[in-house]
Amino acid sequence: MTERPIGVFDSGVGGLTVLRALRRRLPQESLIYVADTARLPYGSRSPSEIEGFVAEILHWLAQQNVKMVVAACNTSSVLALDRLRDRHSFPCLGVTLPGARAAAQGQRIGVIATEMTIQSKAYSRAIAETAREAHRSVQVWEVACPEFVPLIEANRLDDPYTYRVARRYLAPLIAAEIDTLVFGCTHYPYLANILRQILPPTVQFIDPAEHVVTAAWQELEVLGLRQTGRGRVRFYASGEPERFARMASLWLGQVPLVTKVNLSPVELRSGKG
Ligand code: DGL
Repeated sequence: MTERPIGVFDSGVGGLTVLRALRRRLPQESLIYVADTARLPYGSRSPSEIEGFVAEILHWLAQQNVKMVVAACNTSSVLALDRLRDRHSFPCLGVTLPGARAAAQGQRIGVIATEMTIQSKAYSRAIAETAREAHRSVQVWEVACPEFVPLIEANRLDDPYTYRVARRYLAPLIAAEIDTLVFGCTHYPYLANILRQILPPTVQFIDPAEHVVTAAWQELEVLGLRQTGRGRVRFYASGEPERFARMASLWLGQVPLVTKVNLSPVELRSGKG
């Protein structure tokens, strides 16, 4: 029973930031990583499209007998997970809430994320809620960064154009004198070096990946589902597997074996997925 894997998914390489944190902190757990590269970026899709995609991924992961799912994608976490998690018997953790809770330690908080995540106001609400519970006051500024994911997926991290785009996105946050910056999209930690050059050195970066891993660890512990030994990782992509393997190797340090996954539409109105 405890040898069942944890499912982890994202639209592309972004979720590997969460996968790496899971591997580092929970090396005994086996993981299945799904990258829905055929349909990325998610961040400018409509809520119903995103819900449909996530329903398909959860359905497929259920067929792989996962014991838990970590949505390593903020866009999916805020737009689809709440409506879909009841369809499954395993826990589905989103990356946004743990990130927002950690961010609420700051006072002047900037959130950068995809268009849909920013539109949902999920981060500002969750940060405000956490601060209220702690009787603290915070201010939150949210900026959508639609160009970041395509630039990261094209591996244009060192490109002067990416730097210029980042300067433009961060300008209102610099003007607001933020003390904390949340990576509200799992792709963005790859830009940490660029963002560090642009922002004052005192700004603290919050990567929700670390915090969702803590939440996953606690949940496994409570449910008695922790594994022992050494886990293994399997990778799947809905787009071209070789392309994803190449991209992923830049972040994983080795070329993973990637299998093509065929996701099929799920009826959303009724029944368990
Ligand atoms: N990495 C994802 C997120 O955290 C999705 C990015 C995208 O596909 O737009 O929102």
